[in-house]
Amino acid sequence: MALLEVKDLTMHFKVKGGWVYAVEDVNFALESGETLGLVGESGCGKTTLGYGISQLLPDNAHIKSGQIFFKGQDILTPSVKKNGTLNGYRPEIRELRWKEISMIFQGAMNAFNPVQRVGNQIVEAIRVHDKVTWQEAEDRVAELFKLVGIPEDRIENYPHEYSGGMRQRAMIAMALVHNPSLIIADEPTTALDVIMQRRILSEIEKIQKQFSMAMIIITHDVSVVANVADKIAVMYAGRIMEYGNIKDVFKRSANPYTKALFGGFPNLKGEKKRIASIPGNPPSLVEPPSGCRFHPRCKYAKEICKKEKPKLITFPNGQQSLCHFAREVQAGGAV
Ligand SMILES: Nc1ncnc2c1ncn2[C@@H]1O[C@H](COP(=O)(O)OP(=O)(O)O)[C@@H](O)[C@H]1O
Ligand SMILES: [Mg+2]
Repeated sequence: MALLEVKDLTMHFKVKGGWVYAVEDVNFALESGETLGLVGESGCGKTTLGYGISQLLPDNAHIKSGQIFFKGQDILTPSVKKNGTLNGYRPEIRELRWKEISMIFQGAMNAFNPVQRVGNQIVEAIRVHDKVTWQEAEDRVAELFKLVGIPEDRIENYPHEYSGGMRQRAMIAMALVHNPSLIIADEPTTALDVIMQRRILSEIEKIQKQFSMAMIIITHDVSVVANVADKIAVMYAGRIMEYGNIKDVFKRSANPYTKALFGGFPNLKGEKKRIASIPGNPPSLVEPPSGCRFHPRCKYAKEICKKEKPKLITFPNGQQSLCHFAREVQAGGAV
């Protein structure tokens, strides 16, 4: 049984005069201890999908369809109100969010209260939910700081006395408080320099292996997940364009968007580069393009791509691509 299974998930935002079609027909599964890299340009629905899994969506979000199974149990269906919005107050979900599914929010390293010591803020967070003594909570914080590589004598510091990297480590410590089975990290290293990114990612990976936690790393930067993810889901304009084992997708992508995103990104072992930019911008999700949503920017696009939404093609190795010409694109021949 998969730890997490997302099935046919479609989520839209209601806005003045219409809808934002942010997440459409998303399917994927994650086993215990596995890491999924959720990648794609900005505005493609990655954060919405991540928040949807932990049911932390704003009030204008509507679940149009789909189920989310966590340890075999559908955690989404009982949360959806008649009008499609989420009941954000279900105690079961709050419990789950605290104990099982933990989030590292985008930009969270700046979320510490500047006038309180970092260690105390985590101690308090523990004590809000758990009946432990201050000392027990402090011991737990010391243990976690050791794990994420913050020297013990820094527990007493204020946030401004920390470097960006240390604040991010402290946020990771916060997410680890209860040994969650799943961590969803939204752009966890985006604000850091490349060296610090690598260091923190490799530490996350070490901790994750040690406690066999599953992880979803959301990023616009493919190089961030190249070495740490087992699986990859490439998202564009609300849809998963390609999904599979990261080695398979890197080696033999079957989707033009993935190929464009990886452009100039040689291989797993080779030198890493930032995403080569793809001409044009992702579309507005208020009026997404007809047919395949990538067709206006796709160099392989044909008439059918404008007219028909592609069917998902699954290859024998489990790799999936949402493209009318997935096989031809993978084979590298002319379409
Ligand atoms: N609360 C909201 N209300 C309306 N639209 C939203 C809301 N949050 C996000 N969106 C829109 O949903 C789309 C997907 O956004 P997001 O999930 O943040 O993308 P990503 O994380 O890939 O950059 C974007 O078009 C964004 O403007
Ligand atoms: Mg985002």
